[in-house]
Amino acid sequence: MKLTFLGHSAFLLEVSGKSILIDPFLTGNPQAAVSADSVHADYIVISHGHGDHVGDAVEIAKRTKAMVISNHEISLWLRKQGVVRTHDMHIGGSHKFDFGTLKLTIAFHGSMLPDGTCGGNPAGLLFKTAEGNLYHAGDTGLFSDMALIGEEQLKVAILPIGDNYTMGPEDSIRATGLLQPGIVIPCHYNTFPLIEQDAAQWAQAILKRTKSEPVVMVPGESLEL
Ligand code: NI
Ligand code: MN
Repeated sequence: MKLTFLGHSAFLLEVSGKSILIDPFLTGNPQAAVSADSVHADYIVISHGHGDHVGDAVEIAKRTKAMVISNHEISLWLRKQGVVRTHDMHIGGSHKFDFGTLKLTIAFHGSMLPDGTCGGNPAGLLFKTAEGNLYHAGDTGLFSDMALIGEEQLKVAILPIGDNYTMGPEDSIRATGLLQPGIVIPCHYNTFPLIEQDAAQWAQAILKRTKSEPVVMVPGESLEL
């Protein structure tokens, strides 16, 4: 499994020979490590409807013919934008794809699409693959049911730490305690002044207060897991 941080909440997950692009906000993202017109994807997964997560999904899907996976409401909206290959799911549901199984989990947040269309409920993303399990929390506040996701023997958890719109550093440390991942990666911070955080300080606290290994990724950086 190879994981590349593309900036903000965008990641490229390569597993079982497939490239899965998560929350591809690239155009207008000051952290973006690739451009929307060059990134490769077999699948695009969208956690919720906000512009900093849907991002360039429509344009990338049209160019690459990637299948876009999201909740039902976002899927309907994507089809109206001319995206042909969509797979809609909803909270609590799992589906087996050729890269592994994806389950949509709860997230406490909003999900309105950029044009004001209702984007349904926001989701977290739980990938169960032959090369390990990965949880991308999407945008969310802390919730105690993360302990249930923590029963999935997570190799990796990707958590927002930016505060204001999502969990901040303190709650993401508490979330790490519930999720018990091997590795925890911060996201959704330092993109804009309002969500500036000290990731080095956060990493020290993770080491001190949890059993997980913090990995602070620079946009463009890849990890072999
Ligand atoms: Ni959001
Ligand atoms: Mn966001």
